[in-house]
Amino acid sequence: MRVIIRPTAEAACVTAARIIAEQVIRQPASVLGLATGGTPLACYRELIRLHREGRLDFAAVTSFNLDEYVGLGPENPQSYHHFMFANLFRHINIDPNRVHLPDGKAADLRAACEAYERSIVAAGGIDLQLLGIGTDGHIAFNEPGSSLASRTRLKTLCRQTVEDNARFFDDADQVPRLAVTMGVGTILETRRCILLATGENKAAAIGAAIEGPLTSQNTASALQLHPEVIAVLDQAAATSLRRLESYQNAESYMPDPDELT
Ligand code: PGA
Repeated sequence: MRVIIRPTAEAACVTAARIIAEQVIRQPASVLGLATGGTPLACYRELIRLHREGRLDFAAVTSFNLDEYVGLGPENPQSYHHFMFANLFRHINIDPNRVHLPDGKAADLRAACEAYERSIVAAGGIDLQLLGIGTDGHIAFNEPGSSLASRTRLKTLCRQTVEDNARFFDDADQVPRLAVTMGVGTILETRRCILLATGENKAAAIGAAIEGPLTSQNTASALQLHPEVIAVLDQAAATSLRRLESYQNAESYMPDPDELT
């Protein structure tokens, strides 16, 4: 796993955005996997900025989001549909017909999950997946104990995740307890992943994911099986890592992803 450590959260998010931008410039019809939450906001701001400067064209891009709350439709401000349009899609020239999020209000959720998997395959698979990480080590909503072979499905959120996400709602009681999420197996099939983590509260989960044993108790650790993951961290999220020097040394031989061609 490549590990890039930036001094600040803002700088880490800019680096993640530049890696996404490089993908879209090199392959305009890329299939991007996108994430919600507090962490990617600054990354999306940088993508919007590059688009407004005329350096980034999303017209041919297809996107798939990782997850959605069950019971929240696109009109609900707390839904991930709403989040993605408010924080990214409305500000760039992506074709709304090419954006995909799981349907948290599908009458038949199981059939909708299977259809979501099929639509990823039909689009040719995900070229670059952006991932955050939960304080419990989850990727998407694959909570501790999730099968590392799991596919898109219904998942119950852990108490810690409900508490972490309560800040986006008026109170914790309003946080849905169920979500539709891509599985760990789905994520492992993407061609490249960025694991973006910022802040001290992510340090333990990041240490376990990158240097700990492979375990369903920290589903991000499954990324150790993925052929091409770039972890982009700020210094605070990197404090539990023991091999900092070797990551920094390896990085000195790599091209700087911040330099866009
Ligand atoms: P956050 O969520 O970016 O809001 O911390 C990350 C996640 O739960 O994957």
